[in-house]
Formats: sequence, structure tokens, C-alpha cells
Amino acid sequence: MSFAVGVIGMGRMAQALVRPLVEGGSLRGSDLIAVVGREPSVAHLQSQLQSEITVISSSDPRMHEAWEAPVQLLAVKPQQLDQVAASVPTPPAGAAPLLISVLAGVTLERLQSTFPGRVCVRAVPNTPCLVAEGLCGLAWGCDVTSEQQAWVRRMFEPVSEVLELPESQLDAFLALTSSGPAYVALMAEAMADGAVAAGLPRDQALRLAQRTLAGTAALLDQQQLHPAQLKDMVASPGGTTIAALRVLEKAGLRSALIEAVVAATERGRALR
Ligand SMILES: NC(=O)c1ccc[n+]([C@@H]2O[C@H](COP(=O)([O-])OP(=O)(O)OC[C@H]3O[C@@H](n4cnc5c(N)ncnc54)[C@H](OP(=O)(O)O)[C@@H]3O)[C@@H](O)[C@H]2O)c1
Repeated sequence: MSFAVGVIGMGRMAQALVRPLVEGGSLRGSDLIAVVGREPSVAHLQSQLQSEITVISSSDPRMHEAWEAPVQLLAVKPQQLDQVAASVPTPPAGAAPLLISVLAGVTLERLQSTFPGRVCVRAVPNTPCLVAEGLCGLAWGCDVTSEQQAWVRRMFEPVSEVLELPESQLDAFLALTSSGPAYVALMAEAMADGAVAAGLPRDQALRLAQRTLAGTAALLDQQQLHPAQLKDMVASPGGTTIAALRVLEKAGLRSALIEAVVAATERGRALR
């Protein structure tokens, strides 16, 4: 049996990408083979997915069928790459299957040397893809055909806005968009702590902090406002907001965020 798509590492991110394709009808479940690491994950996953999807573990003898698909999505953890690479068959001459990697920090150069005979694409999706509100940066390797490029866009567009970037910009992209949810979550938690200190119940404070962040993002987006415009709209003369902004400026919040994004970019480069 031959499959159209082989997923190596059917975890959270791969499921978030593949489910909309199958549920939306652009990929038949029977055209998909998905590989997980451990045998117990097979039955667990099979019970959660459409029954026509073939799910196997990495020790299954049919593993080679995933590597024979014309489109291969690699979505294991970066530290599992060496183990996966140890058993990858080289594709037949002239086949040049497409390998889409979502592994954080794994460069095109490494992908191309680890998976010879394949054309590679490096994708950097962020966690909000799990709720179809994501961003995804794409860097193309050599020799990706326009048909393959269209396939990649079709895979990421249902869950994210897709941007095509030179690979040299992916570290900064990742520092902003992939690490960004952690900065924002920290802010939500700290704002809620402030409200608790000022007398609101914890549950309510957390929910209100989250809604404030989500509503602010929607307002910036829908009215195409620069962040400074929105800040100035909210901060009236002599009012409560400007009193709070004064405290944030004194504490260096703006500079801390700038340095955080730069530090994450530099760390991403150092990890290679
Ligand atoms: N989740 C995110 O929000 C996010 C965001 C951006 C990028 N990414 C990238 O996406 C990749 C996957 O992340 P994830 O969060 O989806 O991880 P995950 O949920 O842990 O999924 C990893 C999957 O790989 C499987 N696996 C482990 N060893 C394997 C092997 N030797 N052969 C085949 N499959 C194997 C695991 O199976 P078992 O469970 O049986 O071990 C699991 O299904 C990572 O490289 C990460 O950098 C994720």
C-alpha cells in the first residue's frame, strides 16, 4: 500500500496540522500513515483519530511506508532527530520526496545532510496553531517545486498565517512568535496577581487578564492600530493608566521585552 503523506511523530503539533486537512476533505484518512514513538501510543491515538488513518509505532516493520510517501511531515522533538535519522531509507533515484520539518532550531543544512535525496522545508509554527490562531514561518530548501510549495502552504494555512522568510530570519521569527506566547502568558499571570493584590478573586482575575489580552490583540488587529496609538487612546491626562505606565517604564518593562526577544534569538543561534 502506498500513502500520500507520512507523518513521523504524530504528537500535538502534527495532529493540529493534519486534522483540519482530513476533516476538511483535502486529504483522505486512508492516504495518511502516522508514526509514533511508543507502542502504547498507537492504540491511544487510533481511538482519537479517524479510523482510516494508519497509525504505527517506530518499531513497526511498515515504518518504511511512511518514508516512501511523496510528502513527509517530520514532527518529533528535536532531541529525537538522531534516533529517527538512524533508520531512514534513502529514496529511490529521481523520487525527491518533500520533507517538511517543524523541529525548532534544526536548520535546512542539517535536514538536507540528514535526509539525502529529499527536498526539505523548514517550518516554524507557534503554539497557537493548536487552536488555529497560529503563525508559521517557512524557509524553502533547494529544489522545492511550486507544486510542493503549494502543498506546504495548504498544510499550514488552516491553522496559521503563513510567512515565507529567508532562513537567516527564522531565529528572530521564533524568538518573537514561538517564545512570544510565554512572554504573554507571563504578563497575563502577573496582571492577574496585581488584581488579586488589589482585591479581586483569583479565578476572576485570571479570566479578566486573559480577556484583556485577547481583546487588545483583536482591537489592534481589526482597527490596524499601532500599539502606541492604542496606548495613547487609553491613557487619559492625569488618569489611572498613565500612573501605571509610569511604573512600568520605571521598572524597565519595555527594555526587558526588547532584551528578551534578542536573548531568545541569540540562544536559538547558540544551540546549533
Ligand atoms: N507543540 C507546539 O506548540 C510546537 C510549536 C512549534 C514547534 N513545535 C515542534 O513540533 C515538534 C513536535 O512537538 P510536539 O509538541 O508535537 O511534541 P509531542 O506532542 O511530544 O510529539 C512528538 C511525537 O513524536 C513521536 N515520536 C517519538 N519518537 C519517535 C520516533 N523515533 N519515531 C517516530 N515518532 C516518534 C512521539 O510518540 P510517543 O508519544 O509515542 O513518544 C509523539 O507522537 C517539535 O520538534 C517542536 O519543536 C511544536
